[in-house]
Amino acid sequence: MARKREVDNIELPIFELGIRLMACANCQSVAELKLQGDQLQCRDCSAVYKIANGVLDLMPPSYKGYQGDSAEAAALRDAHNRQTLYEDTVHCRNLLDQLIRPKAQVLDAGCGTGNLARIISESHPDATIIATDVSFAMCRLAVKNCYGRPVMVVRTPTTKNPPMPFRNSVFDIVLNRLAPMDPEESFRLLRLGGYAVESGFGDAHWQEVEEVFGKDRMITFPRAREPKEALFQAGFGEAESHSWRFTKTRSLREILTVLRYAPILHAFNETADEPLLSKIEVLYGDQDGIRMTEEELLIIGRKSSRTRGG
Ligand SMILES: C[S@@+](CC[C@H](N)C(=O)[O-])C[C@H]1O[C@@H](n2cnc3c(N)ncnc32)[C@H](O)[C@@H]1O
Ligand SMILES: [Zn+2]
Repeated sequence: MARKREVDNIELPIFELGIRLMACANCQSVAELKLQGDQLQCRDCSAVYKIANGVLDLMPPSYKGYQGDSAEAAALRDAHNRQTLYEDTVHCRNLLDQLIRPKAQVLDAGCGTGNLARIISESHPDATIIATDVSFAMCRLAVKNCYGRPVMVVRTPTTKNPPMPFRNSVFDIVLNRLAPMDPEESFRLLRLGGYAVESGFGDAHWQEVEEVFGKDRMITFPRAREPKEALFQAGFGEAESHSWRFTKTRSLREILTVLRYAPILHAFNETADEPLLSKIEVLYGDQDGIRMTEEELLIIGRKSSRTRGG
């Protein structure tokens, strides 16, 4: 008996629209990729890209790099996102509500579980969202979480080397939340007037974790340049950064979930780290739970015609 093919979102018109944004991951040709049955083929180099379970796999054939989060990490992140993402992205979503124009084309680079793409799509139903991740497990979850919405999930690395398989100047918004994205690559992908939105946590968020576990245990993402400066250097005419600090009460269990899957600490081990977990309770606990500082950070760049100093 033939197995039912699960093609979820490929029959949506978004797919046709989405294809027009793509470039070949192999030859980086801007020649259109054409739909051949249930795969895409490059008109120039004939490279073939599969669509399986609603995920278009546009990984460059030569890619040997980081494969992204595991299925286990993806499942933990999904559970956590369902509880906290809506609240954690309040400023990010308010900003996007102002920036997303009718029928906008939005790239969510490093979309993870796709929960944010779904939330954005719900408030902007006519936007086309392309959600990408390097991890197969994350892409599958994103398809599931965005089911029935105009969100197309594409597996691709987010870094510019190799460049992302999209044409120049095709997106109105390039969003990346807690995922790597070179400003130069965002700039290339944006239309004139488009916005790069980098969403994440500010330093205050990590300082308390560092206080408990020590500097050597922290996995940091060192920023070579001040974030706004990086946007200017990439060619953005305008850049701003904003952050909001607040105290959030969580249970130790919730904190544990985050430490288990998120790339915050080197060699985190619940058993070996038990004394440090108790230290969290001593330092930040009260009768309501553990109150730690959170800091939502947004960095926004606009690809405007005005060049720096001009
Ligand atoms: C911290 S999660 C953030 C997910 C989502 N944006 C969110 O806000 O919940 C980082 C995601 O980036 C992906 N990722 C990490 N390195 C990547 C890379 N070099 N290229 C593409 N995706 C990457 C991981 O697989 C993971 O899904
Ligand atoms: Zn090609």
